[in-house]
Formats: sequence, structure tokens, C-alpha cells
Amino acid sequence: MIFSKRLIYWYLQNKRDLPWRNTRNPYDIWLSEIILQQTRVAQGLPYFEAFISAFPTVFDLANASEEQVLKLWQGLGYYSRARNLHQTAQIIVSNYKGSFPTTYNELLKLKGIGPYTAAAIASFSFDEAVPVVDGNVFRVLARYFGVETDISSHAAKKEFNQLAQEVMDVKQPALFNQAMMEFGSLQCVPANPNCETCIFNDSCVALQKKKVTLLPLKLKKTKVSTRYLNYLVVKDEKGFVLIQKRASKGIWHNLYEFPLLETDEEIQVGHFYSDEFQNLYFQNPIEEIIPFEEKSITHKLSHQNLIIRFWNVSVSGILENGIHPEEAKKLPFPIVLFNFIEKNL
Ligand code: ADE
Repeated sequence: MIFSKRLIYWYLQNKRDLPWRNTRNPYDIWLSEIILQQTRVAQGLPYFEAFISAFPTVFDLANASEEQVLKLWQGLGYYSRARNLHQTAQIIVSNYKGSFPTTYNELLKLKGIGPYTAAAIASFSFDEAVPVVDGNVFRVLARYFGVETDISSHAAKKEFNQLAQEVMDVKQPALFNQAMMEFGSLQCVPANPNCETCIFNDSCVALQKKKVTLLPLKLKKTKVSTRYLNYLVVKDEKGFVLIQKRASKGIWHNLYEFPLLETDEEIQVGHFYSDEFQNLYFQNPIEEIIPFEEKSITHKLSHQNLIIRFWNVSVSGILENGIHPEEAKKLPFPIVLFNFIEKNL
């Protein structure tokens, strides 16, 4: 039996019942795919449901404030995706009267919609025979066909795309694409796949060559830098704190945070009493600075390891621009800061 037939047969028996699979509405599909680029199905599901419930249509999303969108996205990371989602909703409303473009090529023109998302929407909503090629698909194809091309290379995208196009069932593109992703996510998993139960164990090249753990091949490791973030939790006599919107480009743009002191290494409390910080002043005189915890928190992003320390900075009197922690919780924060607020304030 040919690859696609077997795959679809497997899918129909093993697929999970997921809300974005019971619709052809491009808005729902777009939303789900953008969320699923950030996280796994189980973690993405509650976010998808929260978005659909708050913004049932593209018009609702377009009319929302960026802050509302970022708040619902809180915890998914890579917040530029959420900002693009919002801006693209506005473009679809203003330039396309709220109707999504119906072809792969037109979809590709939209901000934040790359080849993967365009293929997902074009195939799931409009039955266009374009293959989706994401990490799952790289893995399934690399292993089954024994492709040893480095997936971080430029050539890989083209090669895998072509292969996916060749093996896809062009009469049932939606079913085929869902099946590929589901197979990659349930059976042909990155670590320790159970090849004994795999429908392809009679013909998988990687299995025959004992290369399952080696494929797909990824040579270029992402460079990870380390940053030291000291958050100053400036608290007045009523427990109100200072927060600010993060204006700088890069991580967490437009999210909220406490006043930040970024350093080249971890610092001790004496740092605040050095000459450099004689003028550290937050509207009100500082009474005391102590760390919240003995040890810093390590928060890993894809390209950065953040070493985070929260400092309890008590000031006398009442802060003019202070905010009550309960009010702060309603705003979008990086999840590591939000968790800190929930636990400590
Ligand atoms: N990962 C990305 N898209 C997916 C989908 N539609 N179903 C399951 N997992 C996915």
C-alpha cells in the first residue's frame, strides 16, 4: 500500500478529536496553527478555547486592544506572534472585508503567515493540494525515506517540500496533512518512538539502518546567550508597586515588567550600595533592598537563558504611580513575572 493510503488509514483510527479539526473556518484554523507553532496540542488547547471564546470572529480579534491579545497569549512566549496575529486580523478586516484569501499564494502575502501556515489554511479550509512542512513532517519524512539532509540548511526546505508534495494524496490534501502532523506528534515522536507498534516498521529506512535517533539531522545548534535581569520590586507602605511597559524591541516587547536593572553577571545586594547606585531613587526614599529568594531563577527561551532575580525594594510613603498587585495581574506580563506576582505579592 502506498505511503499516503497507509498514513491516512492510521490517522482515521488514531486521530484525536480536536476542535480545529471539526471546522473548515479559516479563522479558527489560522488561530489554532499559530498557537500550535508555540506549544503542544495539550497546552495549546486551553489557549485556543480562550481566544475563540473572547474573539469568536476575525472582526472581534481585529477590534480587540493589543493588550487584551497579549494577555490571552500570556505564557505562550514569542509575543511577536501575538502582535502579528492581531495586526493580520486588522488587515483581513480592512483589506479583505473580513474574508480570508482562499489560495496559498494570497495567504502568503499576509504578515505572520509563512509557508507552513499558508499551506495549513489553504489545505484545511480550501482543499488546495499544498503540503504542510513543519518539524513533525521533517521528522516523519527524514526517517521514513532516510533523508540525511541537514534540516537547518537552506536546501532542506526545498527538498522536504518537494518530497512532501510527491507523497501527498492530492485528492485529500486536508486529510493527508492532518495525518502527517498527527503521525509526527503521536507515533513518530522525537525521542524514543515506539517503532514496534509503527505501521511503517516494514519499510522505514531509518529503522532498517538503525538511524531513527539520528534523524532528522540538525547540524546547526541555535546560539544561546545568557542575560542577567534584576527586577526591582519597588513597594510602598500600602504594598503598591511600580511597573512599566517594556518599550525596547526584542523579547517581551509591549509586555509589562518591574523596573529592570540588567547586568553582565549576577549581583549581590552590595551592588545597590555601590557608588554607581547612590542615586537609585524611585520617587520615594528607599528603606531597604533584599532579594526575594536566595537563588536566581533560570528562565529558558529559545535563544536566551535568562537569569532572573527579584529584589524587594521597600520605599517609605506612598508611590505616586504605584499599582495594586491585583490590578497588575490583569495586565500582560512575561509568564515568569506573572508567576512571581501570584506567588509573592
Ligand atoms: N501541530 C500543528 N498543527 C497541528 C494540527 N493541526 N494538529 C495537531 N498537531 C498540530
